[in-house]
Amino acid sequence: MGVGVSLSPLASAVAREGGVGIVSSACLDRLVSKRMNRKFDTYEATYEEVSLAKAAGGFAGINIMVALVKDFESSVRGALDAGADVIISGAGLPLNLPGIQPPKDTALIPIVSSARAFDLICKKWERFGYRPDAVVLEGPLAGGHLGFKIDQIDLESNKLENLLPPVKEMAIKYGNIPVIVAGGIYTHADIKAYLAMGADGVQMGTRFLATEESSASAAYKAAVLMAGEEDIVVAHKPGSPCGLPFRVIKQSPMYVSAMKRLRKPKCDKGYVLLKDAEGKFTRCPAKESNEACFCICNGLLSSAGYNPDKEEPLFTVGTNAFRVDKIIPVKNLMDELSGKTLPG
Ligand SMILES: Cc1cc2nc3c(=O)[nH]c(=O)nc-3n(C[C@H](O)[C@H](O)[C@H](O)COP(=O)(O)O)c2cc1C
Ligand code: SF4
Repeated sequence: MGVGVSLSPLASAVAREGGVGIVSSACLDRLVSKRMNRKFDTYEATYEEVSLAKAAGGFAGINIMVALVKDFESSVRGALDAGADVIISGAGLPLNLPGIQPPKDTALIPIVSSARAFDLICKKWERFGYRPDAVVLEGPLAGGHLGFKIDQIDLESNKLENLLPPVKEMAIKYGNIPVIVAGGIYTHADIKAYLAMGADGVQMGTRFLATEESSASAAYKAAVLMAGEEDIVVAHKPGSPCGLPFRVIKQSPMYVSAMKRLRKPKCDKGYVLLKDAEGKFTRCPAKESNEACFCICNGLLSSAGYNPDKEEPLFTVGTNAFRVDKIIPVKNLMDELSGKTLPG
């Protein structure tokens, strides 16, 4: 989960408690270089972070966003070489993921928001002789980027519980692929309800953002504690340069500035650049204009405490972030989610 929030301290804590701890690949070269006080490239930083996430035992892997085109392959290679237990990949369709390098014992798990996208990925992966080891079905209540058009987020048919049956059917058709649901799952009762509906597991973001081990800045965690239901909005024009709706706390300083078009366009991180006609990574809609997009690289890096003195932070959360009323250790959260203890 997202830029500098889910690094090895969070992922290894989750792994130790019996979950699958997931680090985010985004911006790892800068984050790890700063922490280690020497230069790491994307491959090296990914290798380092996945190794650390696995060091305390249990299962740990990485989320690699397709939208980070420039670093995608290096991130995948670094994770595979470090022996990641899983690579989870979304924010776009990871159509070529199995073709980058033989995954050996690493499970490859795409994220989808519809049965159609899942079908497309399974068909494409068949050409590599690979079947997804599981699939994450992410509904519209999730944090981060959303796999729905802005006017389709609130449709009844796109509720997670309504998306699950066709995806489950597709998963059975392709050979009983496990389906992991995500987006808005908050309690032990929610987990039990989705398992009863046919899900094989859950992926959770927002609740782990609000843990002691998450590397979100103190200001980010404070903003989550303060947020009311009406404060959580989907950013769109200005929105993410990745072209997908993006959920934020509306008081996030970078979002407030973006609404007033205050930050002058400046591209000095380049993680979401796309290729131009000559095949060079030069294109990002936030680079030339602040009209439709904010600079997501800098906003999210600032939220992780990377450069808060230079750039304003942008806080992404799931819709349920308004329910968070304290920051707790991962162990307490995992005990609560597994039903060992009551919330409190
Ligand atoms: C702070 C934050 C950062 C996230 N970053 C990513 C990411 O980098 N890549 C991704 O695929 N999903 C990302 N997500 C989505 C989560 O992985 C997860 O699927 C989703 O938030 C689940 O919904 P929940 O937050 O209601 O539990 C992020 C979510 C949050 C809250
Ligand atoms: S303009 Fe900002 S968001 Fe776009 S690639 Fe450059 S640093 Fe990243």
